[in-house]
Amino acid sequence: MQIVPLGPGFAAELRGVNIQDVAADDGAYASVRAAFEEYSVLVFRDQDVSDEAQLAFSRRFGPLEITKVSSEGAGTNLVILKTLDDAGSVVPDDHRLALENKANQLWHTDSSFKQVPALASVLSSRVIPERGGETEYVSTRLAFDSLDVTLQRRLEDSFAWHEYAYSRGKIAPDLAGPEERAALPPQCWRMVWQNPVNGRKAVYLASHAFAIEGMEREAARALLAELTEVATPPEARYLHSWRVGDVLMWDNRATMHRGRPWPAGEPRHMVRTTISATAADGLEAMRAPSRQPAE
Ligand code: OGA
Ligand code: MN
Repeated sequence: MQIVPLGPGFAAELRGVNIQDVAADDGAYASVRAAFEEYSVLVFRDQDVSDEAQLAFSRRFGPLEITKVSSEGAGTNLVILKTLDDAGSVVPDDHRLALENKANQLWHTDSSFKQVPALASVLSSRVIPERGGETEYVSTRLAFDSLDVTLQRRLEDSFAWHEYAYSRGKIAPDLAGPEERAALPPQCWRMVWQNPVNGRKAVYLASHAFAIEGMEREAARALLAELTEVATPPEARYLHSWRVGDVLMWDNRATMHRGRPWPAGEPRHMVRTTISATAADGLEAMRAPSRQPAE
């Protein structure tokens, strides 16, 4: 296996290994797992991707999430991001599927709004537009390192509330419906996630974060917006331009990502699997000793 660094201080392409090897072979898994802990975003090119191959690869890393209600793929281990309706036509801009893509274009980490947040996501491209439709990443480890020590210490002792309906509300007030709101109540997480393998600390931040324990709402939102700014300057980003056959894997503990727009009328179809965090991934220290979001 060859590791080719791609991004500004994180992200790497892995060559000489495919997703089937990782599923079948302990040694291949161990090498890829080590690269994942180190580089936070891994790119596999020219893969022979199927749902089954992606699932078998993903299961190596931990328990798979079950896709939430009202999503394409609900109740399975696959999230289907596509802009095609059942008849195969590209949906209009105001269609729920298009709006959900728009929500993915806000800087976020996956599943911070779930009762068990995500260790990693695996995304494969099935149909891609001619232009645009990239996925962009930043390292929240490098963002943490760039903060002054006083703010680092403060964030390590702070807890933020995350809610799915909040980030969706930024796109359209009712994008998250009553079923999703009921299934996905706000969750509270420490604002720094420490990697237990290498000790590196990362700001744990997402479009889903709407409040900070013990802080007045408006001041909390201002701090969340400022941290997002600091984490995402253009020179800190890795922009991935998709080819069919690409598989990307990222560490939701140590990165944020966002989708990029593409020309209206062009189809895009991606499939995601998501791996839940466990105690071995540093999850226990993320839990707040806390109760309800403050008004
Ligand atoms: C995701 C996501 C962005 C994209 O799958 O979690 O945010 O580019 N995707 O589709
Ligand atoms: Mn995402």
